[in-house]
Amino acid sequence: MSIAAIIVAAGRGTRAGGDQPKQWQALAGKRVIDWTVDAFVAVSEIDCIVLVLHPDDMERFPARGKIELAVGGDTRAQSVRNGLEALDDRGVSKVLIHDVARACIDASTISTILMSLNDNKASAPALAVTDALWTGADGLVSGTQDRNGLYRAQTPQGFDFEAILAAHRSFEGDPADDVEVARAAGLDVAILPGTENNLKITSPGDFARAENILRGQMDIRTGSGYDVHRFGEGDHVVLCGVRIPFDRGLQGHSDADVGMHALTDAIYGALAEGDIGQHFPPTDPEWKGAESHIFLHHAAKMAADKGYDISNVDVTLICEFPKIGPHALPMRAALAEIIDLDTDRVSVKATTSERLGFTGRGEGIAAMATATLVRP
Ligand code: CTP
Ligand code: MG
Repeated sequence: MSIAAIIVAAGRGTRAGGDQPKQWQALAGKRVIDWTVDAFVAVSEIDCIVLVLHPDDMERFPARGKIELAVGGDTRAQSVRNGLEALDDRGVSKVLIHDVARACIDASTISTILMSLNDNKASAPALAVTDALWTGADGLVSGTQDRNGLYRAQTPQGFDFEAILAAHRSFEGDPADDVEVARAAGLDVAILPGTENNLKITSPGDFARAENILRGQMDIRTGSGYDVHRFGEGDHVVLCGVRIPFDRGLQGHSDADVGMHALTDAIYGALAEGDIGQHFPPTDPEWKGAESHIFLHHAAKMAADKGYDISNVDVTLICEFPKIGPHALPMRAALAEIIDLDTDRVSVKATTSERLGFTGRGEGIAAMATATLVRP
């Protein structure tokens, strides 16, 4: 028996405004829908996720891994129903039903609802109302309402699969949520603690609130790298992946790409994962003469494997010659390709050292780099 989640995302988000429905709008670096889906993908107990999309949107989110697609209906309840029907006869024992618009959902709330389904056929997160409640008309308070026993309902709402499927099949009308459907079929629904952060993006101002919540959870890291290579015999240098004809060459095992080495160390630095020498010991014949892109690619992959996106990198080359300016753009493009980043997030610049010191005397080239890594 397996555990499934249905994420309903077929609404048009009319109250939220914007040039497209709210689930497709950008939020803290990715789309609203990506935040919501990723939160469920990260919960290993969930075997299958049905994403219910508007018929016009089916091309906008390709099915992948444990995510499959279903077509939504005219109402939220119809969209849920379509998701449930897609899971019928598939051996699903428990199902979570969630609004795509609750993009700040956290793994612990998802797990709490799942756990509670071991003892309940239905359970849902909610917050007790703490503000005083009024009724109002024409801009005036027309009465007060006892808040005792009132809750603000959230999702994901969790159910025994067969019970909620049967409840939806027999329900008539336009329910507020799936708890209403479950109760109409006679199910007891346990109330579990929700969180203030699990807001439903509904109005334009909710994007900023959600963005603050998600950014507050981000892990942002910066690393720096520094490298030097000495000039020797040769007819070219390789800097940031670009071969530049020159009357000398840079010494060092491998291609002596001082810029790429500094950048590689910056990424390792942000991850607190040592430096190139630790991962590719110069004493190991396997790495003697290895091209520098192998090192940079290794560092970038290590960042990705740990869940980090590279946000931007900045490399400074320090030399009197060769002149870097004319090559800066191809250098940015070469680095961008290796670390799979847009070129406008990759900076390469250069400075002389006013003929002072070893770089000023033309004895070698130095490079500094920084890298910023973000884990959402
Ligand atoms: N939903 C759906 N199918 C519909 C209507 C709504 O799947 N026919 C989904 C929405 O995508 C959302 C959830 O139900 O995730 C809750 O609905 P709501 O917050 O009202 O979103 P929208 O209907 O998109 O927004 P609005 O009412 O402002 O148009
Ligand atoms: Mg709606």
